[in-house]
Amino acid sequence: MGMAVNNLPQIREECEVFHLTDKQIREIMSRLHNDLLKGLGKDSHATSIVKCWITYIQDLPNGKERGKFLALDLGGTNFRVLIINLGENHFDMQSKIYAIPNHIMTGTGVALFDHIAECLANFMKEHNVYEERLALGFTFSFPLKQLGLTKGILQRWTKGFSCSGVVGEDVVQGLKDAIARRGDVQIDICAILNDTTGTLMSCAWKNHNCKIGLIVGTGSNACYVEKTENCEMFDGEPGKSELLINTEWGAFGDDGTLDFVRTEFDRDVDVNSINPGKQIQEKMISGMYMGELVRLALVKFTRMGLLFGGHGSDLLFERGSFYTKYVSEIESDKLGDYTSCMEVLEELGLSHATEADMAGVRHVCESVSRRAAHLVSAGIATLLNKMAEPRVTVGIDGSVYRFHPHFHTLMCDKIAQLVGPGIHFDLMLSEDGSGRGAALVAAVACRQSLGVA
Ligand code: BGC
Repeated sequence: MGMAVNNLPQIREECEVFHLTDKQIREIMSRLHNDLLKGLGKDSHATSIVKCWITYIQDLPNGKERGKFLALDLGGTNFRVLIINLGENHFDMQSKIYAIPNHIMTGTGVALFDHIAECLANFMKEHNVYEERLALGFTFSFPLKQLGLTKGILQRWTKGFSCSGVVGEDVVQGLKDAIARRGDVQIDICAILNDTTGTLMSCAWKNHNCKIGLIVGTGSNACYVEKTENCEMFDGEPGKSELLINTEWGAFGDDGTLDFVRTEFDRDVDVNSINPGKQIQEKMISGMYMGELVRLALVKFTRMGLLFGGHGSDLLFERGSFYTKYVSEIESDKLGDYTSCMEVLEELGLSHATEADMAGVRHVCESVSRRAAHLVSAGIATLLNKMAEPRVTVGIDGSVYRFHPHFHTLMCDKIAQLVGPGIHFDLMLSEDGSGRGAALVAAVACRQSLGVA
């Protein structure tokens, strides 16, 4: 038996690569600010990395929306169909989650839309609205160039999707065609929107200060309310003083802007993803990648002999085996307690881990999740400073924000440090943004098309 060595100091040192200094964070903010301006500007938009798409959602809900609406939510880990009844100060909502099998996520666009339409028709049958003609809001959480509220051209797939024949096409048309191919249900697609937009809308229904929508889930993105005069790409009807912008900030860094803080682990995740070179900021933050970043660091430290006595396990060495939910679980253990950590390590075939190993594993998790929270905070602070309003509520959704035990606090502290004097903010968990938001957008759109605004 060798002497028990304490490797924690060395692990801490190795994890320094995940630490963002305040100077680096300020630099990231200034670069993001530049990229946002490029996205908004007429001459710079075409080549800009952060696209700042105009959403064509012109009105926030006013709380008076009423009626029965359908919503679709595609783009996270699950695909959902919802039916929502908006009433006086309350709403009720029923939903069902449908799996999107891997072969559909990476198959043809036609198969994807047929699958969605089939789930929708089955859902309508189950909820006894099969014969009704209903309005539908479609939350589609990928970068869309919107040409109107019901027309959006897919720019690129992100996260786990790569269906053929959809990039460059109108997604609403794709869904309409699939519904028409079935010919059995009557649906009016009233709006297509991003999940960040849905989150903002859903919070704005109750909280009128809500002017930023944020997702830290499978992917990462934010939308915000911008003055129309700053949106040079806007070609819609004049008259509105503000527009909702979908930043698509997950692409930030695709031109190397973030290379000065990326690590070998980030490069590894990127090179082995289905979209190398794309969504660089997202890959440093979101749930699709966070667990893998942790795993890669654990593998390196194991090979260096700093963890598990130098002995890993088959699972540890397998790509994708360390789920992001493990990070949340491990960090949920109270200080000095390693109950969840031990469970995770056992699941990974690492039951030979000592308590020192567990402290090391936990430190890796904390380093990676803290960096993610700080990067998101840099983004939110950049938006808050740009908007320069005295008080803004940020509506937030997504599995990382929702389930990570410290993400909210990390963000509150960091953003407070980064915003200019006189700017106040609240971070508000959205109750099911992408679902309810989609129904609300459909409701507002219908209100407009019926002229009963
Ligand atoms: C997509 C965004 C989306 C975000 C969160 C990103 O990969 O490009 O449109 O809002 O994920 O779901």
